[in-house]
Amino acid sequence: MYPDLQGKAVVVTGSSKGIGAAIALRFAREGANVVVNYNGDAQGAEAVVAQIEAAGAKGVAVQGDMSKEASATGLVQAALDAFGRLDVWVNNAGLEIPAHTHEMTLENWQKIIDVNLTGYFLGARAALQHFVAKGIKGSIINMSSVHEQIPWPRFAHYAASKGGVKLLNETMAMEYAPQGIRVNAIGPGAINTPINKEKMNDPAQKAALEAIIPMGFAGEPETIAAAAAWLASDQASYVTGITLFVDGGMTLYPAFMNNG
Ligand code: BGC
Repeated sequence: MYPDLQGKAVVVTGSSKGIGAAIALRFAREGANVVVNYNGDAQGAEAVVAQIEAAGAKGVAVQGDMSKEASATGLVQAALDAFGRLDVWVNNAGLEIPAHTHEMTLENWQKIIDVNLTGYFLGARAALQHFVAKGIKGSIINMSSVHEQIPWPRFAHYAASKGGVKLLNETMAMEYAPQGIRVNAIGPGAINTPINKEKMNDPAQKAALEAIIPMGFAGEPETIAAAAAWLASDQASYVTGITLFVDGGMTLYPAFMNNG
């Protein structure tokens, strides 16, 4: 537990389900108040808010498509209106639409880049504007992926967005370090969330996936949430510009496991 997170205000984009929901809940359990952003799933967001309140913190669900400029500024305002402050911003909203590159539509390319990369810029920019104007030593966390490093056939747009997040993260970390604003990323591997449900429900696909994880199993959203809480806390006060991989070893060249 990280007592310095008590009473802080956190925005988590895309937190009606999956990793985002686990992060929102973890911050609530640390005593922080949370803005739960969702795009389509109002019911999911309300369920997360109910869990936040059951944990003894305050939560508010706010709709917003993170590829739109007004959504990010709206979430900053929502945090200020509901909690009177903003300390931590988590860029998490993202999507994937698999297609071979030669069959990929411009529309889907654009959609992924707009949400997964431009959305992170817009979110971070809105949080930074508030932090800089008020002299707040805030923290920004960008949900990247092992695919900021590992190429992924049929996911060229997704991998490109995550590669972009890596240098967006590092550049912002360098740029705002003098003000004491820390910017870090988390690189999840395969996590048991709705995004992976189909794969995990198919024994052949599940086995193929587990074969490229040295630890041999997919992770739980709570392990990502634990990394987010630590990165936002004072325990990580000298950490900025990293991607913390939480991936059961997926980034360690697992094909070499039995080679040599
Ligand atoms: C994707 C998951 C995938 C994992 C490992 C993540 O970025 O969202 O669908 O299982 O990377 O490939």
